[in-house]
Amino acid sequence: MMADGDASVREQYEAYPYPARDPADEARRLITGSPSHLLEIEHFVLAGGLAGNLRALVAGGGTGDGAIMLAQQLQDRGAGSVTYLDMSAASLQVAQARAKARALGNISFHQGSLLDLPKMDWPPFDYIDCCGVLHHLASPEDGLAALLSVLSEDGGLGLMLYGELGRTGVYPAQRAIARLAGGDPAEERLDLARRLVEAMPEGNWLKRNGHVSDHLAGDDAGFYDLLLHSRDRAYLVAEIAALMDAADLRISGFLPPGEYDPCQYLDDPELNARAAALPPTERWALAEELSGAMKTHVFYAVRKGNIHGGAASGFDPTMVPALREMPAARLAAGLEKSPVLRAELGGVERRFELPAGAAAIIALIDGGRSLRQIHGRLRAGGVKMNWPDFEDAFSSIFDILHPLNLLLFAGRKADA
Ligand SMILES: C[S@@+](CC[C@H](N)C(=O)[O-])C[C@H]1O[C@@H](n2cnc3c(N)ncnc32)[C@H](O)[C@@H]1O
Repeated sequence: MMADGDASVREQYEAYPYPARDPADEARRLITGSPSHLLEIEHFVLAGGLAGNLRALVAGGGTGDGAIMLAQQLQDRGAGSVTYLDMSAASLQVAQARAKARALGNISFHQGSLLDLPKMDWPPFDYIDCCGVLHHLASPEDGLAALLSVLSEDGGLGLMLYGELGRTGVYPAQRAIARLAGGDPAEERLDLARRLVEAMPEGNWLKRNGHVSDHLAGDDAGFYDLLLHSRDRAYLVAEIAALMDAADLRISGFLPPGEYDPCQYLDDPELNARAAALPPTERWALAEELSGAMKTHVFYAVRKGNIHGGAASGFDPTMVPALREMPAARLAAGLEKSPVLRAELGGVERRFELPAGAAAIIALIDGGRSLRQIHGRLRAGGVKMNWPDFEDAFSSIFDILHPLNLLLFAGRKADA
């Protein structure tokens, strides 16, 4: 039997499929994001190994953002499949129409609760996306256990959970709205809530929180999801670490990696050195405390016993680097003009200076060439650089572009 809370969560997503999407827009753009970008799965789940014939489940797929992106990327590669699951029929219809608009033949659609996964008799998945769903369950722990019941031993998860500090002001506002409009039908509640937010004094923490202003000013589905949800909770990094640890999972990375590196926020050398010396979970938690801007936490996790999976680390000549959503030629051309890259990290614009020679290396990154092949091409083009020097040069590029989630490892070419 469905608990009351489950029924009202489902009613919300029948009335307001989230996020609001128009299938006609598929003709002009593919929405990409995290988690579940294929390059991220290869980097953070498969340790830089090729995804090949990946079997993916998108649990609580909503209107399809993650499922459509991954299915399109897999279809472009000519291998792999996506299973979409959501309890909301209205959301499923939108996702299905988007898949049809793209002529995606590699997604199967199922309506149901992820809590029933252990009973579904599906063969194990290599990868499971569960983005913005577990924090709406009565027991996120039970939801995670249900996901793990259909995850292969060497598979991994891409998750998103709300971040507590970035959602400052949301929960008092939710309570205020419930006090004044709790018993009203959804549409009236929405109207009253919009008026209440309008009436709040400027000093109110919700009004002061620029990190959630897009949802306040946006469409009904986003506003409802932020302030009228019947059930949600937010997490600190340390709480996520405890949740994963209790499920025998190991976090392989938060995204974008640079936002979770406290040293990106610290210029003071002593503070920086102390932060760098902390163990990973404490570094991530410190970054969250310093930033204050994290309204969601996107991360990947693998089983603790999976020693071959997780995040790609170190460099060797067989590794194949790939730029994520950034054409190499455009980036290289920009760097030819100026070595300075401006990018936003943790809500703050930062400038990064790439080393001399970076443009020539970046221009050769095509997601197919290994580091050995890139090095070989450089030498063939007249750049006199031995392997250790090339490794150093690549490393200093990686240390800037990877934190921005622009450079990942997509696979290996052993025979290159
Ligand atoms: C905030 S939306 C996120 C949608 C999508 N994952 C995304 O990130 O765009 C949450 C989705 O989870 C679904 N959901 C909530 N509880 C669920 C459950 N127990 N089983 C399956 N789907 C669920 C809702 O119907 C809704 O579509």
